[in-house]
Amino acid sequence: MKHLLSVSDLDAAAATGVLDTADRLKQALLGREVRKLPTLRGRTVITMFYEDSTRTRVSFEIAGKWMSADTVNVSAKGSSVSKGESLRDTSLTLSAMGADCVIVRHPASGAAHRLAGWVDRDHATTGTHTSVVNAGDGTHEHPTQALLDAATLRDRLGGIAGRRIGIVGDVLHSRVARSNVLLLATLGADVVLVAPPTLLPTGVEEWPCRVAAELDAELPALDAVMMLRVQAERMHGSFFPSAREYAIGYGLSADRAALLPDHAVVLHPGPMVRGMEIAPSVADSPSAAILAQVSNGVHVRMAVLYHLLAGAPE
Ligand code: CP
Repeated sequence: MKHLLSVSDLDAAAATGVLDTADRLKQALLGREVRKLPTLRGRTVITMFYEDSTRTRVSFEIAGKWMSADTVNVSAKGSSVSKGESLRDTSLTLSAMGADCVIVRHPASGAAHRLAGWVDRDHATTGTHTSVVNAGDGTHEHPTQALLDAATLRDRLGGIAGRRIGIVGDVLHSRVARSNVLLLATLGADVVLVAPPTLLPTGVEEWPCRVAAELDAELPALDAVMMLRVQAERMHGSFFPSAREYAIGYGLSADRAALLPDHAVVLHPGPMVRGMEIAPSVADSPSAAILAQVSNGVHVRMAVLYHLLAGAPE
C-alpha cells in the first residue's frame, strides 16, 4: 500500500490485515507504562490540516509518536497557506523536506488524490517517496474513520460479516457515511442508510446498501447504529429539515434507543451535537462505544502508518 486515499484502496483481505495489525499493536501496548515502539524510528510524519479536527489530527500525532516517528503538525492558519500558497506547492515543499507520510484533511473532495498524484510525479525532484493519507476530503471520504469504526464493531460484536448496521442522518455531507458504507459492505455487513430525503446524495441508489426513511422501523433489527454529525458548516446557513425536525425524526432519543436489541452498539464519529443527533443519556450509556472509537482510532492509525511505512507485517 503506497497511499490510503479511499477505502476502495482496500479489499476485504487488506482491510482485515490493517484491523489485525491494529489489534496486535493494541495488545503490544496493553499495560505498558511507556507506550513507545521503535517501529518507525527515523521516519517523518506530517499532518496537514486545512479544516478543524480534534480526534483525527491528535490521534495521528499520537500514533506516530507511539511508534517513534518524528511528527510535525501543519495547519492552514499559521503556515504559508494563509499567504496564498497552493496545496500543490505546500505538499511538494513538505515532501522536499523529507516527509515520509503526509496526512491531509481538506475541504475539497478529491484533494488527497491530487496531492498523491503530485508527490508521486515529482518524487525525483523532491528526493522523497511520500505516502499520502486522506484524513477527510470534503464530502468524499474519511477512510481511517471507517477503519476505526470497523475495529470497534469487531470488538463489540465479534465480527462484521452478516451484521446489520444502520447509518443515520446527514448522509449528503458525510464523508464518514460513504467510507463506512463501502468498507462495511466489503467486510460483508448488511448496511442500511436512514436519512431525510433532502440529506441523501445523488446516486446513493448505486451504493452497496439499502436506503430507508423511517428510523423507528429499522432500529429493532440493527446490530449497530451509527449516528452521523450534521455538517452545518457545509450547509451555507440553512438546512431542511430544521434542527428541531431533524431531532424529532432522526435523533437517537432514549425512547428510540430502547427500540434497539439489547446487544446493539451505538456509534458516533464525533464531534457530537448532543440533543439533536443523540440524547446525552444514550451517548453516555453502556451501549455507546463512542470513546472506544476514539481509542481504537489511535491503534488503527498506528496500523495504517505501519502498513504504509514499514510494509504489511508477516
Ligand atoms: N471524527 C472526526 O473526524 O473527528 P475530528 O473532526 O475531531 O477529527
